[in-house]
Amino acid sequence: MKIKVAVLTISDSCTEGNREDVSGQTIVDVLPEEAFEVSEKKIVPDDYQAIAEILTSFSDEQGIDVVLTTGGTGLGPRDVTPEATASVCERMAPGFSEILRVEGFKKTPKAILSRGVAGVRKNTLIINLPGSPKAVRECLEIILDVIPHAVKMMHGGGH
Ligand code: MTE
Repeated sequence: MKIKVAVLTISDSCTEGNREDVSGQTIVDVLPEEAFEVSEKKIVPDDYQAIAEILTSFSDEQGIDVVLTTGGTGLGPRDVTPEATASVCERMAPGFSEILRVEGFKKTPKAILSRGVAGVRKNTLIINLPGSPKAVRECLEIILDVIPHAVKMMHGGGH
């Protein structure tokens, strides 16, 4: 069975229609179709409550296996993606964000400016990716292979 994915773009300017959602589409394009099915693709503003609510609904109501967010992880005054994500997670999975910063640093030192987190709510793994299409591609390349095993473990499939 394919892994059910929700793609969430977190961006004030995409929500207002001032910018095209290239990063969200990049996630869709990069995920191999044989293994992943993108069943939701949404855009929300950089708003703590809005982010927390949609993540909760992806997990509790829609039974999404993996949520990949893009944007809002930096140090800007409106960047609240990590805090909103952590607020809905029952357990954190820091390995994802650790490797993204470490490996990302080898491509650009600015990778350490991303405060993205990853964690689990019920049977849903939520991973924050940075906002740029370039960063999204680089980050997915690093963690993609491990996601199927993570989903299997979440569903009680052992190691
Ligand atoms: N990680 C990788 N691999 N490649 C990148 O180009 N860009 C960084 C960082 N992470 C980048 C990256 C930059 S410039 C910023 S400001 C932070 O992600 C936060 O981005 P965000 O606020 O759009 O989420």
